[in-house]
Amino acid sequence: MKDFFAKYKSDESWWIREKKWDKSMQSSRESQFSLGNGYIGSRGILEEVPYDARAGTYIAGLYDKTGAQIPELVNLPNPINLKIIANGERLGAGTMDMLQYERMLDLRHGLLFRRTIYQNSHKKRFDYQSLRFVSMRDKHLIAMQVYITALDEGVTLTVESLLDLSVTNIGFLTEGNKKHFRIEDVTQLDKGEYVGVRTLEKDILIAYGKSLIIEKNSSRRFAEGVATYVKLKKNQAICITNIFSVFSSKDKNSSKTKAMIKGFLKKHIRLGFDRMVKEHIASWGKLWGLSDIKIKGEPDVQKKLRFNIYHLLICGKEGDGESSIGAKTLTGEGYRGHIFWDADIFILPFFIYNIPKVAKNMLLYRYNRLDNARKIAESRGYNGAMFPWESADTGEEVTPAWAKNYDGTLIQIRTHEMEHHITADIAYGVYQYYVATQDERFMLSHGFEMIFETARFWASRVEYNKLLDRYEIKHVIGPDEFHEDVDNNAYTNCMARFNLLIGYGMYQKLKRLYPKEFTRLSKKINLKPREIKEWKNIFPKIVFNIKDNGLIEQFDGFFKRKKIELRNLKKQPIPGIPKKVKLQDIGKTQLVKQADVVMLLHILSDNFDVKIKRKNFYYYLKRTLHKSSLSAATHAALAADINDLDTAYRYFSIALNMDLNLLYGNTNDGMHAASLGGVWQAVISGFAGVKVLKGTLSIHPRLPEVWQEMSFCMKWGGYNLKVMVTGHSVSLSFSSKRKKDRLRIKVYGLLRRIETNRLYTFSRRATL
Ligand code: BGC
Repeated sequence: MKDFFAKYKSDESWWIREKKWDKSMQSSRESQFSLGNGYIGSRGILEEVPYDARAGTYIAGLYDKTGAQIPELVNLPNPINLKIIANGERLGAGTMDMLQYERMLDLRHGLLFRRTIYQNSHKKRFDYQSLRFVSMRDKHLIAMQVYITALDEGVTLTVESLLDLSVTNIGFLTEGNKKHFRIEDVTQLDKGEYVGVRTLEKDILIAYGKSLIIEKNSSRRFAEGVATYVKLKKNQAICITNIFSVFSSKDKNSSKTKAMIKGFLKKHIRLGFDRMVKEHIASWGKLWGLSDIKIKGEPDVQKKLRFNIYHLLICGKEGDGESSIGAKTLTGEGYRGHIFWDADIFILPFFIYNIPKVAKNMLLYRYNRLDNARKIAESRGYNGAMFPWESADTGEEVTPAWAKNYDGTLIQIRTHEMEHHITADIAYGVYQYYVATQDERFMLSHGFEMIFETARFWASRVEYNKLLDRYEIKHVIGPDEFHEDVDNNAYTNCMARFNLLIGYGMYQKLKRLYPKEFTRLSKKINLKPREIKEWKNIFPKIVFNIKDNGLIEQFDGFFKRKKIELRNLKKQPIPGIPKKVKLQDIGKTQLVKQADVVMLLHILSDNFDVKIKRKNFYYYLKRTLHKSSLSAATHAALAADINDLDTAYRYFSIALNMDLNLLYGNTNDGMHAASLGGVWQAVISGFAGVKVLKGTLSIHPRLPEVWQEMSFCMKWGGYNLKVMVTGHSVSLSFSSKRKKDRLRIKVYGLLRRIETNRLYTFSRRATL
């Protein structure tokens, strides 16, 4: 049987395949096979929509809180909804037998393929082939094509493709299904259909256009009305093409009128499916050119790494800060689509070094909500800006009051009251962006203000202990959420210190280099020199509990909590909660939910020497349950940093397989965004040893033995740096139109100067 879509497929090394339909895997597969372009996310349901499929269509930044009290990412009408009836029997999982089945995500081309041989109750077979994509070229376009061939005898087909308006959000806890939109308008157009729905809370219009084209032999017609009837002879195929446009009244520069939708459809009908696919593939080609990592030695790891990168690419969006990336990207409703520190600490670096415009959009998202962060600070009696632990469209605090604990019981959530490190995490993200991109314009228009306002917050958040002449940060939750309401969490304190330090440094810089801007900004936010003096006074005196032997105490009194050391970590790197520990008592023990001190050592790497890193890594590893998906990749990165490649590889494999092998059991709710970013960090910052040490880019690779070579591109200071590392060498080059351009890069600890348009290879031995 002919493969109708063969010409669009890349090579097998880029394919993620599912070879058998397994109903029990349905929702997880829908997350894994999601398509997207940063603006739209579309779960990978079967087009025939089995009755218990979890269709998901999301627009970045589009939230609604009807019936939920807290806003959630709206599940919009589902365009992927094809009903094919062959001689009275419906094609689909559960309604016909599947003699052969394959679903394949082509990571390189961003295409989702299906191939199924259906058999009806009379043992007559139908070949079903489909291809669909969410366009990377035109963010408002979704398209799909389906070929159906009657293999055994002639048949009458009924084809229906209706925008499914019955979809709802799944609802959390006892909320039940929730609908966030009402139907405003359904109009038949000349060659298609227009459907407008509006969200209930904010009245945001989401305007769909849809065209359905049916071709048989050389005849072609546009479907009108609900159903189209087609007669097929034996071995004859029909081709069904669906073109959708999706706009929202939140988009910039779009009128969303029917006329515009009509024009959009017309343009794409004229363009044709083939051109649309090719343009989409070309756009993907550019993205991979910026972000691919090539690994020689482990094809399986190579593919999985690309799967992780694919999922980062489909949620990244350039823009002016309307949205950022939620904890489950645009692939599911977990965490209601909210934005956490996952975005700023885990995902942002990938975009900073590959597609800085997306990173900028994520930071603008925070900047645009600075006023609400100021309000939060004020309402709590602090100065400056305090960012919410969970954020949605407005930047208000949107953390739910209750959630399910690991044992299914309800627990009250206190993170929004106390998990304050998010504010420093955002400042850290701004700073990382600045160091890597040197984007002074962004800093002048947004970045400095963010850093100053967050530093201001910490200056008011710390408490002075006169007796000990030190500053303390009390009543917090660190990244380890098992321990609530603790004092002087090491991660929080060090990040606050960092925030004040860069606040101070940036202030001096702005004053010196841009006096006019300095005056403007100082006036705008009423920043006084005495405040800066205060910051300088505070940061060296913020408590940091480190013992003489180098052990960092996670928070005041942590060492006195009940000691429990986990064993057998090689065999069981993600241990279960020990039986003797009751869930409600876990905070009384030294058991840690996720990387906390380890997180600190990873992201503020150049502040700690390797001895301290080792000491703390092994101490906390024995106490960490990795109950958050953020933990494994961070452990991998730090383990590589301290040259423990076995441990690094073990935790890297967990993070790498997290969603492909459903390791955390909740991939059905969407992909684990932070882990995707964490995997990239484990590879680049961990194994390739790429770090920024006191402002200088440094490369010191420590590859797993089985990897012979790894190559990638990264943006640094506006240049596109090409890097190739092996177990014993680093090769570097970059191109620039200006011949004399140079970069200073540390390789294996030695400072090197490299010139444009030349290839340099530095060998490890020579530098030892
Ligand atoms: C983790 C947080 C994380 C959140 C969203 C929680 O379980 O403890 O660190 O931000 O999930 O991924």
